[in-house]
Amino acid sequence: MLVYSPEMDSKSSPMLQLINILVVDDNPGVAALVQEAISAAPAVNVQVSHDAVEAEKMLHEISPEIVVLDLIMPGLTGMELLDKIIQWNPATSVVLLTGEYRVDYAVAALQKGACDYLTKPFEVETLQLRINTLIDEIRHHQPSGANPEDESGSDGPEKWMIGKSPAMVAVFDRMRQIAPHFRSVLIHAETGTGKELAARALHRLSPVSQGPFVVCNCAAIVETLFESQLFGYVKGAFTGAQKDHAGLFEEAEGGTLFLDEIGELPLPLQGKLLRALQERAIQRVGSHVVRHVNVRIIAATNRDLAAMAAANQFREDLYYRLAMVKIQLPKLADRRGDLPLLERHFIQKYSEQFGKNITGSTRRVKVLLERHDWPGNVRELENAIAHACMVAGGEKIDVQDFPEDLRNDSGRHAVRSRELAPTIAEMEYRQATMILQQCDGNKQQAAQRLGISRNTLYRILKERPMTRSATA
Ligand SMILES: Nc1ncnc2c1ncn2[C@@H]1O[C@H](COP(=O)(O)OP(=O)(O)OP(=O)(O)O)[C@@H](O)[C@H]1O
Ligand SMILES: [Mg+2]
Repeated sequence: MLVYSPEMDSKSSPMLQLINILVVDDNPGVAALVQEAISAAPAVNVQVSHDAVEAEKMLHEISPEIVVLDLIMPGLTGMELLDKIIQWNPATSVVLLTGEYRVDYAVAALQKGACDYLTKPFEVETLQLRINTLIDEIRHHQPSGANPEDESGSDGPEKWMIGKSPAMVAVFDRMRQIAPHFRSVLIHAETGTGKELAARALHRLSPVSQGPFVVCNCAAIVETLFESQLFGYVKGAFTGAQKDHAGLFEEAEGGTLFLDEIGELPLPLQGKLLRALQERAIQRVGSHVVRHVNVRIIAATNRDLAAMAAANQFREDLYYRLAMVKIQLPKLADRRGDLPLLERHFIQKYSEQFGKNITGSTRRVKVLLERHDWPGNVRELENAIAHACMVAGGEKIDVQDFPEDLRNDSGRHAVRSRELAPTIAEMEYRQATMILQQCDGNKQQAAQRLGISRNTLYRILKERPMTRSATA
């Protein structure tokens, strides 16, 4: 069972937290190789097991922070053992060794909570690099004695993102689940749904939250400058390269690189990016020196990358690399329950920003927001409320404070039945004219019955909606 325990005293610093590592592989040759490779790191205690059932017992004996796990083993499989490890302590960093390139297995394992995988045969150096990165993260962010569960409770994604609908609660759960482990994540969602906000929240929840969060907008990158921007360059690499320059990968060292609009990255550049992601290493333009980078990747897109890959518009291998762990954000139309919360949040934000004292909105605004389709999602809602707060005169924003196209939009019922779905402006107009008729044209009386001021009634009558009310 226990075949190796390194001489800690000879190579470890007393200042370093001891990291326990368990290597589980039924092939003794591979296990010994892995053990030897990672024992080179300072202050680590590497133990080996050749069978998953025994390994499960060892979890409780040695409490490993890291487990290097062979995925395919006889008896209890690596996948089953992974379940048990995550159940035992979700903060354990599990690195998988897969016998062959099995994307489906690797995806399932990463989704369960593994943090990385290596395909056999692997380079000893690559293994060392990945394990050393994990060790650094553990030492840097979890001083010995810290209870990882303590951190997760209060500081969830809810701190930065608004949402109480079931769809958002599921997203938050998923973010909490993957934040400690992920190496790369793909956020897929429609425009304006909060992809960048989610990326920042994931970074803040991750063990590298103290490191940099660097944004690379792939849609804005000039093809010829891609390499120099991402990987940097050395002096003299090209005309104008007057001194050495670090690229975005190096800037993000010890933190997160956010690859926004990844679907817009031209095909020839995708191969270059894939190499950097696979090897976790880059070369500055004009230099032969290979630099290892310790960077977490979050990519975001509103495009269907799987469909693009099928149509040869996106590299399939890059897609698989990025999409191992995926987060899908819901459309605003699919989480209407969050509208009041978001509305309140943005009213407060823009009321402050414009130095006003706006406390809320009228009931008619709620109807307006509820009936709109929100193709631009949260960003569209935010812009609409910002507009309303800017022009509002009173303490409450009202329908007339919203942009005209939104006011006159008949919303989600538009396609189904325009006749049955008059706009707010039309409903107001119809109601006002009906009551006015009943009051024999007495505007004072009509306004009173409608519960609005005479001025408002004048405005409603004056702004007679031109769309369908003429025929209605
Ligand atoms: N859940 C949320 N809670 C609070 N604000 C949000 C939420 N989702 C999005 N927002 C706000 O909506 C705006 C758009 O969000 P963000 O830029 O993250 O979206 P995106 O999906 O990256 O958009 P695009 O596709 O246009 O790049 C931002 O101002 C953001 O703060
Ligand atoms: Mg964005």
